Amino acid sequence: MPPAPDVTGGRPSDLVGRRVADYLVEREIGRGGMAVVYRARDLRLDRTVALKLLAPELARNDTFRRRFTHESRVAASIDHPHIVPVFEAGETDGLLYIAMRYVPGQDLRVMLDRKGPLPAPTAGRIAAQVASALDAAHAHDLVHRDVKPGNILVAEGTDSDHPEHVYLTDFGLTKKSLSLTGFTTVGQFVGTLDYVAPEQISGRPVDGRCDVYSLGCVVFETLAGGPPFRRDDDMALLWAHQFDPAPPLTVHRPDLPAGVDAVMAKALAKSPEDRYGSCGEFVAALRAAASAAGADGGSHRATGVAGRGALPPGEAAPPPQPPRWALPVYPGSSPADGH
Ligand SMILES: Nc1ncnc2c1ncn2[C@@H]1O[C@H](COP(=O)(O)OP(=O)(O)O)[C@@H](O)[C@H]1O
Ligand SMILES: [Mg+2]
Repeated sequence: MPPAPDVTGGRPSDLVGRRVADYLVEREIGRGGMAVVYRARDLRLDRTVALKLLAPELARNDTFRRRFTHESRVAASIDHPHIVPVFEAGETDGLLYIAMRYVPGQDLRVMLDRKGPLPAPTAGRIAAQVASALDAAHAHDLVHRDVKPGNILVAEGTDSDHPEHVYLTDFGLTKKSLSLTGFTTVGQFVGTLDYVAPEQISGRPVDGRCDVYSLGCVVFETLAGGPPFRRDDDMALLWAHQFDPAPPLTVHRPDLPAGVDAVMAKALAKSPEDRYGSCGEFVAALRAAASAAGADGGSHRATGVAGRGALPPGEAAPPPQPPRWALPVYPGSSPADGH
């Protein structure tokens, strides 16, 4: 049996044109600290997939292999519009791989690098979709553990009401959660520490609320242009996650009502007990706070995270009339009621 190809150290083109399990590797689409993602052809079903090949040293780690197998099964079993569907997870020639839906578009990391801070309505829509994916995972007792812009794929939406369709990917694939201190002993690249929850750092048990924290960091970045904590080195950053209060979002976004600061502070609370109980709860609170008029008599404009347009200062939005078909129906009140 030939030795496993070096998927992370080798040249990008190493595997292009080669066959891995039942997939023909077409081109590299991205790489992180522990994997390379290729666009590939599923030869059995003749369709395009994203094929993720994990670094060989992960395949040699028994804890990782067990979790990889378990969590890719759970992730594959969750059928959710905002979770990238996993088609197959397996092993070939000492390589762990995952085949999943190929999502055309860009990830949120690339989007933020290109566009900088997003308009509040866009940030709100993206956050809501990621939150629904995370809450669905949590309902299956699956904690993501690595919510970050690189794991949020932004594809084109269906229409102007849904300009983007967002997918969350990479459940349970983080090396950090095996042992965050692993990187100091092994000296390998672990990826970003910008979104890691305090309890992950200190090695306490994690549950869905660590994803609430990470989502809070991501949302902060989509609105502020950078993550809540920016420090010169990793140790200072880890310290900040554990002990420093996050700066108010409105320092970076004075256009947003002051109420968003309290919402962000709750999502980014150091102790899981002090955070929102779910990601959906956090995002709903954020959108409500962002679309509320300012507490100082309306000098803050409605900024429309919930989707409404900005209003002139001091003007309250009249509630929109529901369409006729959505009006309440009382017995005998409608000619169409007689069936
Ligand atoms: N299903 C997919 N479809 C399209 N592109 C993907 C898919 N999964 C991952 N990618 C791309 O591959 C890149 C590398 O992925 P990954 O190895 O997980 O690194 P990271 O998550 O650290 O960026 C991602 O950032 C993303 O742009
Ligand atoms: Mg990833």
